[in-house]
Amino acid sequence: MNRLTIVTPDDWHVHLRDSPYLEAVVADTARQFGRAIVMPNLLPPVRTCNEAMAYRDRILAALPANSGFEPLMTLYLTDNTRVEDIEAASESGCIHGAKLYPAGATTNSDAGVTDLANLDAVLETMQKHRFMLQLHGEATAPEIDIFDREKRFIELSLERIRRNFPELPVVFEHITTRDAVDYVLASDACLAATITPHHLLINRNAIFNGGIRPHYYCLPVAKREHHRQALVAAACGGDARFFAGTDSAPHSKSAKESACGCAGIYSAHSALELYAEVFENAGDFGHFESFMSKNGASYYGLELNQGTVTLERREWTLPDSLPYPDSELVPFRSGERLRWKQVVDA
Ligand code: DOR
Ligand code: ZN
Repeated sequence: MNRLTIVTPDDWHVHLRDSPYLEAVVADTARQFGRAIVMPNLLPPVRTCNEAMAYRDRILAALPANSGFEPLMTLYLTDNTRVEDIEAASESGCIHGAKLYPAGATTNSDAGVTDLANLDAVLETMQKHRFMLQLHGEATAPEIDIFDREKRFIELSLERIRRNFPELPVVFEHITTRDAVDYVLASDACLAATITPHHLLINRNAIFNGGIRPHYYCLPVAKREHHRQALVAAACGGDARFFAGTDSAPHSKSAKESACGCAGIYSAHSALELYAEVFENAGDFGHFESFMSKNGASYYGLELNQGTVTLERREWTLPDSLPYPDSELVPFRSGERLRWKQVVDA
């Protein structure tokens, strides 16, 4: 097979940042995806409908001319999120969920939730409106080993959410472990998961290959090879509860290559091609379109996109870096060869 045409896909988890970084990255996502669930972890975070609408306007203004890309907005949950904000968001038509960051779990999560019990009324309201809960699924207690944080989150928090709010639709985002895959598979239709291209392509050895490799560091951190294999089986296996979410998270080269480098991998530059490589490595494109373009839309209750995108088999080399304000942006797999390339109309 030398050419692949699929319904225009969506990215069910992306970080677009804000001006001037927004302008540097949004075209990459808009070139490949019809829509994207946009993360609210700005500084300060996007906590209210008005803030989400204003951010949406900034994204639309930053798009290339004639782009049909649609940003799907989210709210950032805090200990003080008000039920009224959730009700307004669920009626807004352009806000498609609320994101739970356990406080301290990752970049810009300081304002996140310190105790799930603080969210009971909010989660009750979300369940009532069938308003999506997006989860950063990592337990944050300092004594928990970083490689066990996702598994512990399932035990300590996800179980509780599912038990107390069984009809609340949940997306367990950027899953990284066999434990998460198995938990989703054993669950019901109110739990789904996104999987990133980088967690499908690397295991934790990549972070330490011949020296410390900051451009492979993200959160949740990549795990052992058997976990990666479980993710590949989930993505390629056709179960409709798994779908694409890049978690593309740009940080400047200087912020990554530092004594305390930021967590985040910039994959938006070639996300489609990276996912295609995963399916090709697995030897089966049978469920590629479902994973990229159908499962997520169906779970979010949205129509499929109208158009199509095409990839062709053509070797090319990823750039070493991309332009980024005051610095550079190093894309995932920079300087390496990829086997698939999106065909972009002239
Ligand atoms: O690696 C990550 N980077 N994980 C996250 O959860 C946040 C993200 C970011 O915003 O940079
Ligand atoms: Zn993220």
